[in-house]
Amino acid sequence: MKRVGLVGWRGMVGSVLMQRMREENDFADIDPVFFTTSQAGKPAPDVGKEGIPPLQNAFDIDILKTLDVIVTCQGGDYTTEVYQKLRDAGWQGYWIDAASTLRMADHSVIVLDPVNRNVIDAALAKGVKDYIGGNCTVSLMMLALGGLLEQDLIEWVSPMTYQAASGSGAQNMRELLSQMGELHNSVRAELEDPASAILEIDRKVTETMRSGDFPTEHFGVPLAGSLIPFIDKQLDNGMSKEEWKAGVETNKILGRSGNPIPIDGICVRIGAMRSHSQALTIKLRKDLSVEEIEGILAKGNDWVKVIPNDRDATMQELTPTRVTGTLGIPIGRIRKLAMGPEYISAFTVGDQLLWGAAEPLRRMLRILQE
Ligand code: HSE
Repeated sequence: MKRVGLVGWRGMVGSVLMQRMREENDFADIDPVFFTTSQAGKPAPDVGKEGIPPLQNAFDIDILKTLDVIVTCQGGDYTTEVYQKLRDAGWQGYWIDAASTLRMADHSVIVLDPVNRNVIDAALAKGVKDYIGGNCTVSLMMLALGGLLEQDLIEWVSPMTYQAASGSGAQNMRELLSQMGELHNSVRAELEDPASAILEIDRKVTETMRSGDFPTEHFGVPLAGSLIPFIDKQLDNGMSKEEWKAGVETNKILGRSGNPIPIDGICVRIGAMRSHSQALTIKLRKDLSVEEIEGILAKGNDWVKVIPNDRDATMQELTPTRVTGTLGIPIGRIRKLAMGPEYISAFTVGDQLLWGAAEPLRRMLRILQE
């Protein structure tokens, strides 16, 4: 049985990972060691197993060195602080990481096994030890488009995203709800009066959003009742870092960085809680019928589900409300665009914390046990 260290298991992504590992009985097949950055010596969480040691210090290289595998959701600063020290100390184990720090490193593979199991297997055979979870938006788009990608039918994609608050962190989810509450409070009396004027309600809501008291510590600006068309850092070429990731990570996941598929669009934060949505404009390499496209997409993997391009089905099935908390990856709104027979639209939604973060990590841990 592999001795597996878990770091950052108490945070948001880590908690989702723990939940999934419990559901899939993953702890039965590993010897887990739980780490902490602040509470060493406290009892480990109950995962239905005897003999698990108390929490260990996540910065203790001597203890980390005894592990076969480290799975970390602790974040990029931890990776920066610990990873190289461990390798310099001669550690040869497997490093599985949710943070972006090592994603584009030559010595790492981005894991999304329903799409790139071949790349993962080739890397394992070559002795690669670093397996990193992809950007959530990228992983969710690739699971949705897996069938078309596998058959190399895509010439380019322009994803326009509608990203949930959870992508910015737990505090941001709380702030979104606080903002919603503030907006409601500012017009509570008017809402209770059916005769009140909607333009007066709107004026008050806008005034509240623009006031200095509105809670914007984490997002920097209002999100509730608005949106934020810039995610992550600004790069020199006008792209946001989130937009840059779409192209470079997708092609790295596919193992085709030398012959990349152009993938570029605009990433936008909206007031959803934890499911990211994306509107995709796709140029195919050839003219396929919508039925053929739907058939290929549906066979991509076990989680993708084609939603008919029908108003009711779309409103019921293709929303964050429907998808949140599930592993389902619905894709719909598939139709030919006016630009020509190879151009199609699609819309997809996925839980940013499940397939977008935790699930690829626990599946990589399983792959190491095969
Ligand atoms: N960068 C993503 C976001 C989150 O901000 O929504 C995780 O990859």
